[in-house]
Amino acid sequence: MEKIRIVGGRPLEGTVRISGAKNASLPELCAALLTDQQLTLGNVPEVRDIRTMGRVLAALGAEVEFRVGGEVELRAGSLTSVEAPYELVKTMRASVLVLGPLVAREGRARVSLPGGCAIGARPIDLHLMALEKMGATIAVEHGYVEARAERLRGAEISFDTVTVTGTENVMMAACLADGQTVLRNAACEPEVEDLATLLGAMGARIEGAGTSTLRVEGVERLAGASHRVIPDRIETGTYVAACAIAGGEIEIRHCQPNHLRAVIDKLRETGVRIEEGPDNLRVRAPRVLRPANVTTQPYPGFPTDMQAQYMALMTQAEGASTMTETIFENRFMHVAELARMGASVRENGRTAIVTGPTPLSGAQVMATDLRASASLVLAGLAASGETVVDRIYHLDRGYYRIDEKLRGLGADIERLA
Ligand code: EPZ
Repeated sequence: MEKIRIVGGRPLEGTVRISGAKNASLPELCAALLTDQQLTLGNVPEVRDIRTMGRVLAALGAEVEFRVGGEVELRAGSLTSVEAPYELVKTMRASVLVLGPLVAREGRARVSLPGGCAIGARPIDLHLMALEKMGATIAVEHGYVEARAERLRGAEISFDTVTVTGTENVMMAACLADGQTVLRNAACEPEVEDLATLLGAMGARIEGAGTSTLRVEGVERLAGASHRVIPDRIETGTYVAACAIAGGEIEIRHCQPNHLRAVIDKLRETGVRIEEGPDNLRVRAPRVLRPANVTTQPYPGFPTDMQAQYMALMTQAEGASTMTETIFENRFMHVAELARMGASVRENGRTAIVTGPTPLSGAQVMATDLRASASLVLAGLAASGETVVDRIYHLDRGYYRIDEKLRGLGADIERLA
């Protein structure tokens, strides 16, 4: 299994280019199921989860062509199946994003239940509740969701909990439903808004994307379109934190600073110098990092997908800070691995207390999920000696060539077979 080896202690310098957003690309690939015409997406990150989604769509009978440079051409002219198989869904729970489009277009979907994951139980009950409200009959048998509807109809739906992919599934399904759908307590993430922009280009009628109340007026059919995916705000935040923990000064290009406001504000609070341009950031690490507490929240709050990276950074702050994880019930898997490197972190339910600064020493550590693995790479940049991160397939799911990008910034990092 591939590993990454890092020798820490080198400040970063130079420029890094941000890739397209994984969490916008995944639902946007599924939007191809809503039309029989061609969809062309640009700036799609060449990461493992995108390839997995390509396989899910191909299993349904869609043509999917990946081009060099992040362009993907898709056409779901006629589907040969409505089943997303367990073999694929178990490797990537975002496969559930085919559910809404399939029921809306084909009147039927059979999707393997995703099951739990390292960071939490992650049920999809809200996705199913919403589709039922839109007139679908839902049955769960043999580990699969079976959803059927002659034609979905518009409905008034309210989510108890903000759910990103739940919002995206409903928004896509509602595009072809009969009548208007109103979704309250919808997710406001930039990825949801970017999906709405694509759907709008396909002829959908959506209002309120990016706010907590979404209105979708269903139409008979959607057309093809071309769309450029937004930059990845979590990848951007990861590089800001990398510079802050390793030291030095870098420029981050092809990013969208407005999409990570909460992260930028929080890192400035810790002393990191951040200058913003329209699509770039200039980051300078402080001599002394100040501790600052954080609570993860749905957008526009501090993203849970930055919690692990931020924790790694706080191990080097002068004093104690608390991290409260409100989104997922089991998202502190990185704590034990950071402790193996010498970090001082005390967990108490959904809150962790980090005391710093503690010198980190290189060690062999194990990645448990995508963002936890990024936090271990960051810790490795600051640690004395050599760190080897095992199971980096987690990392490759959502970061495009992170080792090469960091090496481009002067880090001593390489991939080991
Ligand atoms: C999306 O996951 C992202 N994934 C996650 O990023 C991200 O952590 C998460 O949103 C929160 O921001 C993609 O976009 C592909 P949720 P999603 O539904 O949609 C509960 C990464 O690192 N819930 O917003 O699956 C759920 O258990 C990944 O890139 C229900 O109870 O997350 C959680 O506690 C990891 N019932 C909360 O809501 C439901 O039906 C938020 O989950 C749905 C969700």
